Amino acid sequence: MRALSAVEEVTLEGTITARPVRPPNGRWPVAAIDDGLLFQGESKLDLWDPATESFLAQLPGPFPAATWGNRVVSCVECDELYLIDRDADTQRTVLPPDGVAGFLKLDCQPTCTPVSSAAMGRLETRPFTDEFLAPAGELLAARHREHRGAEPLLPARYERAAAATKEVAVQWRTEGASGAVGIRDGRLVAYLLGAPKDESRWGPNVWVESAGHASEDPEDLRDIYATAAGRWFEEGRVRQYALVPASATGHVSAWFRLSFGLQHAIGVRELPEVPWPDGVRSAELRDVDALVDLSPLLSEHQAQPPVFGIGLPRETAAEIRAEILEDMANNEIGDLVAEQNGRVVGAFQNVPVELSSMHTSLARPEGAVLLSWAATRPEVRGSGAGIALTQATFAWAREHGYTTIVTDWRVTNLISSRFWPARGFRETFLRLYRHIP
Ligand SMILES: CC(C)(COP(=O)(O)OP(=O)(O)OC[C@H]1O[C@@H](n2cnc3c(N)ncnc32)[C@H](O)[C@@H]1OP(=O)(O)O)[C@@H](O)C(=O)NCCC(=O)NCCS
Repeated sequence: MRALSAVEEVTLEGTITARPVRPPNGRWPVAAIDDGLLFQGESKLDLWDPATESFLAQLPGPFPAATWGNRVVSCVECDELYLIDRDADTQRTVLPPDGVAGFLKLDCQPTCTPVSSAAMGRLETRPFTDEFLAPAGELLAARHREHRGAEPLLPARYERAAAATKEVAVQWRTEGASGAVGIRDGRLVAYLLGAPKDESRWGPNVWVESAGHASEDPEDLRDIYATAAGRWFEEGRVRQYALVPASATGHVSAWFRLSFGLQHAIGVRELPEVPWPDGVRSAELRDVDALVDLSPLLSEHQAQPPVFGIGLPRETAAEIRAEILEDMANNEIGDLVAEQNGRVVGAFQNVPVELSSMHTSLARPEGAVLLSWAATRPEVRGSGAGIALTQATFAWAREHGYTTIVTDWRVTNLISSRFWPARGFRETFLRLYRHIP
């Protein structure tokens, strides 16, 4: 196909109202809407703004259906419409009214036909280098826009290519980082970056963080993984971790078909306005002995099957006590205790999310508190102490000006992987894990 050298905006009278610009890689737009030009992706439409020469969004369906007011619409089979509200930046699905079989899609054949893999150019894989930072940032911003369509509590700023590029650069500049890109028809369509973390905790490892990968087509990820992982394996990095958007089911499936499995989940929810429950209060100095006593409960539980967590090297009781006292003196940290019959039976800890090394970058919602530690005594589990502590956590966080709460759990932890979703936490990122061989 010939490349398009320029597009210009012209009135019906023939006056040119916007300067001619070359569309990205000379691609041919399938439609023009209020916001810009639509380009055919593989299963989606890319919205591109000629004024700023940047991609603004991906529409969820491959067919442009209509645009009006502040809404853009697309559809797949057109038996349901995907509506994006530009002002509220939300997405919803609209079904046809009763008695109506489906929506009429604009028939823009042949240009609208989704490109089949056979018609696409061959994927070329290369090691990641500096020149790929900016296009990788664009890919990441597009991935994040789609992710926020599913979970609007994720941070908005990484929808912009400049902010996303900075996060890719952080990954790329991490000591020991390496990775690969996929290029098709001269355009970057996938990238993957990994870097090692502390070996005493994670073994001979490599981590692909939330900003460490994006791929227009999930299949391409498998090709570039082959290139990147060849080097990781040569370096002995056989424990491999990847943080993948939970809503990107095609991508999760691609990772699964690279032998990755689901290890850990990160969840988010808005903070509801709830009253402070009976039986829970903020921890005081008189609770320090009880808190020291409770502190091994979480790692002891996680050491059991089917988690088999190795846990951190155990600290001494004196070290734990010193840490508890330090946390109590910090007004930003909320230590809560639950009592039954005058005895402390459980505790939760809440901290600003900025203290977290896991909830970072694209996985760090704005204005969020992190529920960082939670355990009740085994003999009271199932009697309501955890629910009361959760409610007190919500009330404490609201009192402290938070609007959003995050937490995370091992998916093999049978209790917590059921408890947190039941308390309204929605998965944002999944940590996938592969151990070679
Ligand atoms: C996760 C944990 C903190 C929850 O605390 P808990 O004291 O067990 O919580 P509760 O007793 O309030 O609730 C547990 C379940 O019992 C149910 N329950 C509570 N009171 C009940 C009652 N009186 N009758 C029947 N069911 C009851 C709850 O509804 C809940 O089930 P659901 O999640 O399906 O709704 C606790 O189980 C724990 O310490 N687990 C081990 C450590 C751990 O995994 N920590 C979290 C790490 S991410």
